[in-house]
Amino acid sequence: MFETLSVTPPDAIVGMIKLAAADHNPKKIDLGVGIYQDPTGATPVMRAVKEAERQLLAEEESKKYIGILGNPAFNTLFSEMMFGKDSEAITSGRLACAQSAGGSGALRLGAELIKLANPNATVWVSTPTWANHQPLIGSTGLKIKGYPYYNKQTQRIDFEDMCAELRENAVAGDAVLLHGCCHNPTGADLSHAQWKAIAELMLEKDLLPFVDLAYAGLGDGLKKDSYGLRLLADQFPELVLAASCSKNFGLYKERVGLVAALAKTPEDAKLAEGQIGLTMRRMISMPPDHGAALVAKILADKDLKADWKQELEDMRVRMTGLRISLSEALLAKSGPSSNGQMAAAITAQKGMFSLLPVTPEQAEKLRSEYSVFLLNSGRINIAGARVETIDRLADCILAVL
Ligand code: LMR
Repeated sequence: MFETLSVTPPDAIVGMIKLAAADHNPKKIDLGVGIYQDPTGATPVMRAVKEAERQLLAEEESKKYIGILGNPAFNTLFSEMMFGKDSEAITSGRLACAQSAGGSGALRLGAELIKLANPNATVWVSTPTWANHQPLIGSTGLKIKGYPYYNKQTQRIDFEDMCAELRENAVAGDAVLLHGCCHNPTGADLSHAQWKAIAELMLEKDLLPFVDLAYAGLGDGLKKDSYGLRLLADQFPELVLAASCSKNFGLYKERVGLVAALAKTPEDAKLAEGQIGLTMRRMISMPPDHGAALVAKILADKDLKADWKQELEDMRVRMTGLRISLSEALLAKSGPSSNGQMAAAITAQKGMFSLLPVTPEQAEKLRSEYSVFLLNSGRINIAGARVETIDRLADCILAVL
């Protein structure tokens, strides 16, 4: 019967992992998938994670099931870190949490919860957004619409258009997916003033914030990166958070994330928790524990936590440095009149990604002629660059523009 199946459409990001791996040019620069790479091009297990794994291996006595909401210590410690331990969201008992299989699992569970609560909701996503948002959220059957976010020509956030679209076309009960920090794929984050303005608009229109926080710690720092989430949690009666530990704990393949629903009352939170658990049971029964157990161990141990935060900060600082080096190289080679805007955007953007103003044809040329791997959209992962390759990278970009 399988011959009746349709051919799977290619996945822009997963496809790029294969394509880059197949290129053996020693000068290859892989800026494709969003994984952190150190100065040697490796993605090592973080120090605190290694130590937590060593301890876990020695201590763990059983692999028995934990439960449909996952690891309780992880849920508590990670949500406290995201919202702030003393925040009203945490102390009021209005937060329902479950551990998920990665940030993607959290997005799916969050979207399923929204669907159960309001099947008619439209989920508004930024244009552009992470390539998997639409498939993940759309699989629930919820309607998805785009709001303008980033103008690739001006390389700036289209904030007025974003607000105008939501003001005119979103209706009460719709959800708005906002990238908490380090916007994927543009790296262009809302300013504090813009967070405040969008919060005001969404409150007025009774829209539900659906926050995707996958890169906390890699933009401006751990606490600063949850500014938007915390602002919304202070102001809104309800919101949904999908958070990930893939990037900031380097736990990509272990699949660790958190879905959290802030409800109007502790009683409503219990209802949300019940439905998240039921959805989990129906989809995968229970989330995998290993990665969550590591995060829980790190966050519960003062020394491990301090070491993890330091390594995360070093990663962040390294990426900021690479952004500055690439901007400087572009400026030095071509001058501010032709590429000043691109250079300024790369420096100002946050986290792993920037969206270069290249066409899909130019992106293809970068891959096939220069072994520089980036997505067709123009998205680059700055962590894939190295001090030694920045000069060549700038040359290649300028050669195709
Ligand atoms: C990315 O955007 O490159 C990462 O989030 C990896 C993925 O699964 O797409």
